[in-house]
Amino acid sequence: MSIDQLADTAQAMVAAGKGIIAIDESTNTIAKRFQGVGVENSEENRRAYREMLLTTPGLGEHISGAILYDETLRQKTRDGVPFATVMAKAGIIPGIKVDKGPQALAGFPGELVTEGLDGLRDRLKEYAKLGARFAKWRAVITIGDDIPSGNCIESNCHALARYAALCQETGLVPMVEPEVLMDGEHDIEVCYEVTEVTLRSLFGALYEHNVLLEGTILKASMVVSGKDCPDQAGVEEVADATLRCLKTTVPAVLPGIVFLSGGQSDRDATAHLDAMNRMGPHPWPLSFSYGRAMQSAALKIWGANIAANVADAQKMVHARARDNGMAALGQWNG
Ligand code: 13P
Repeated sequence: MSIDQLADTAQAMVAAGKGIIAIDESTNTIAKRFQGVGVENSEENRRAYREMLLTTPGLGEHISGAILYDETLRQKTRDGVPFATVMAKAGIIPGIKVDKGPQALAGFPGELVTEGLDGLRDRLKEYAKLGARFAKWRAVITIGDDIPSGNCIESNCHALARYAALCQETGLVPMVEPEVLMDGEHDIEVCYEVTEVTLRSLFGALYEHNVLLEGTILKASMVVSGKDCPDQAGVEEVADATLRCLKTTVPAVLPGIVFLSGGQSDRDATAHLDAMNRMGPHPWPLSFSYGRAMQSAALKIWGANIAANVADAQKMVHARARDNGMAALGQWNG
C-alpha cells in the first residue's frame, strides 16, 4: 500500500459535505441502546438493525464511510450480500473499530486506558482482507478531581500512536480518537485545557512513532461545558473554543478532522459543526463521525416495530445524514 493510497482514502473520508456514520457499538453498548427502545439484543436483531442503517437509500450522498464492529464486518444482508460489498456499491468506505475498549488504569483510580494492541497486526490484516480501509481506536480521558493525570494522557496517546503505525503498515487509515468525556461539572475552560494537553500529547506521540499525518484522520471531541456544569456554553462559544484548541494543536497537513457526538443532543451536534464551518475557511475539512447523533432518532422509530418501520427509520437516517452533511459545509438551515 502506497502513501498515496492512504492519503487518497483519508481525503475521501472527509470529501466535501460528507461524513462518517459510527455504527461500531460493541455488543455490550448496543445492548444498552436496544434496551432503551425495548429490542432484544440478539445477533439477528443486531444484523437487521445494521442492515437497515447501511441500506438506507441515498446514504452515500452524505456519508463517506461507516465504522463497523467486528461482528458486523462479518455479517450479510438478509439476501446474503456481505455488508462490506453493499457499502462499496453505495460508495461508502468500510471502517472497523479495532480497540478492545477502555480498562481501569492500574495505579490511577478513576482513569482508563484503552487496550487491544496484542495481536493487532494480524487482526488488521484480516480486517483489510474483509474489506476495511480505515480503522478506529478510541481513548477515553475523564475530567474530575485532580484528573486527568499526565500518565493517563501519555499512556493513551502512546497506545494510539502504536495502533496508528500498525494500521498504516497494513494500508488502513487510522482514525485516532482521543475522547475527552463530557461527564462532570467542569466548565468549558477546563475542557479546553484538557483537550489541548491531550492533542499536544497525541501529535507528539504520532510524530515519535513515524505515523504519516497525510494518511491519518483525527476523531475529536468538541470543547464543551461539562454535562452537569450550571453554566452551559452556547453554540458560538463551543464552536470558537473548539476551533482555537484545534488550530493550536493539530498540524495543517492532516487531511481532516471529524467529531464524535459524545452525548450531545442531535440538534447541538449539528449546530456546533455548522457554526464551526461558518467560521471557516480552516486548515482542514471539519466533518462528523457521529454515533448517537446519527442513529438515536432512527433507532426509536425502528425499535417501535422492527418489521414494519424499516423504511420510516431509513428516512430518518437519511435526514440526519443530510443535516450533518450540510453542517459539514456550514450550510445547515436549522
Ligand atoms: P458518539 O457520536 O455517540 O459519541 O459515538 C461516536 C463514537 O464512535 C464513539 O467512539
